[in-house]
Amino acid sequence: MIPFLPLNRINAAYEPELSEAISRVAKSGWYLRGKETEKFENEFAAFCGMKHCTGVASGLDALTLIFGAYKILGKLKDGDHVIVPANTYIASIMAISKNNLIPVLVEPSEETFNINLTKKAKAILSVNLYGRQAEIAKEENILLIEDCAQSTGIKPIGDAAAFSFYPTKNLGALGDGGAVVSNDEELNNIVRALGNYGSQKKYINEYLGCNSRLDEIQAAVLSVKLPKLNEDNKKRCEIAMRYIAEIKNPDIILPQKQGNNVWHLFVIRCKNRDALQKHLFENGIETIIHYPIPPHLQKAYKGGNLLYDKLPITEMLASEVLSLPIHQAMTEEEIETVINCLSKPLQSQKQ
Ligand SMILES: Cc1ncc(COP(=O)(O)O)c(C=O)c1O
Repeated sequence: MIPFLPLNRINAAYEPELSEAISRVAKSGWYLRGKETEKFENEFAAFCGMKHCTGVASGLDALTLIFGAYKILGKLKDGDHVIVPANTYIASIMAISKNNLIPVLVEPSEETFNINLTKKAKAILSVNLYGRQAEIAKEENILLIEDCAQSTGIKPIGDAAAFSFYPTKNLGALGDGGAVVSNDEELNNIVRALGNYGSQKKYINEYLGCNSRLDEIQAAVLSVKLPKLNEDNKKRCEIAMRYIAEIKNPDIILPQKQGNNVWHLFVIRCKNRDALQKHLFENGIETIIHYPIPPHLQKAYKGGNLLYDKLPITEMLASEVLSLPIHQAMTEEEIETVINCLSKPLQSQKQ
């Protein structure tokens, strides 16, 4: 079987440094808000070309705390509209709703899966879906928040950017983790305080915060993996270029090469998607659907506070998309098997 994402194989490439880092923290007796987190935050801010970074507990928290901090700063208020692509992972939209803001869902481009328009709103949450950076024109007086959960390795362009270090991400921890980066010191201080019970100074609580911190073990793990990220992303890009050049199948729409892309996922489209997935599985290739049900059709948003018109492109994409294996530990043989299997006439694909 060619696994979709063998995390054990992927993480084995960072040994023995990974185990050494975990053991160092375990023995240190210091597990939260210490020098490992501070070191990683500095490294990650520099890597992103941004001045500030705060480690948090997840990508969802990173987004939620950014919106919360902008409300404290008076740049957003209850009921403000936030433009967001309709075909994103639901976490992007939940972060808006959780802050009493109203998500305004817009259709993506069929070619890039990203939104390519700006509309009047107080903020735009631009999502770099599948690793491709959305091309958003920065408008004055509109905050641009960038959901970089799937695009670690690309320099953010937003006023603030949220990252996820969930294990399957391009820079994955060995558990949950996330970060907020920006050039805005005030925003960074509030995000940091919000994730620490609303406190900047011990036992002084200024805001209604929560507990959302990157822990020392995850920070140490991420510091081991970060220096190899560009190389790992290059490998993903090479595989993507081969898939694009070598998969020949009139029933399949391949993603476009253009734009900044770290190829978190390689997502093809096929009208007979379910039959194709079955065919690939029978031929030993594991694939995943990102995502089968768009957020506006989820029970969590039944009768919920979402604004949208019709979303035919989003719904069509949800029925056609299929993610192929793509990661830095793929062998030549695995890559060739995927290409050959998809390039052969697929008899069992017919429904
Ligand atoms: C686009 C997007 N935004 C946000 C998130 C949330 O990140 P996390 O899983 O770390 O909470 C994810 C994670 O899957 C994601 O894909």
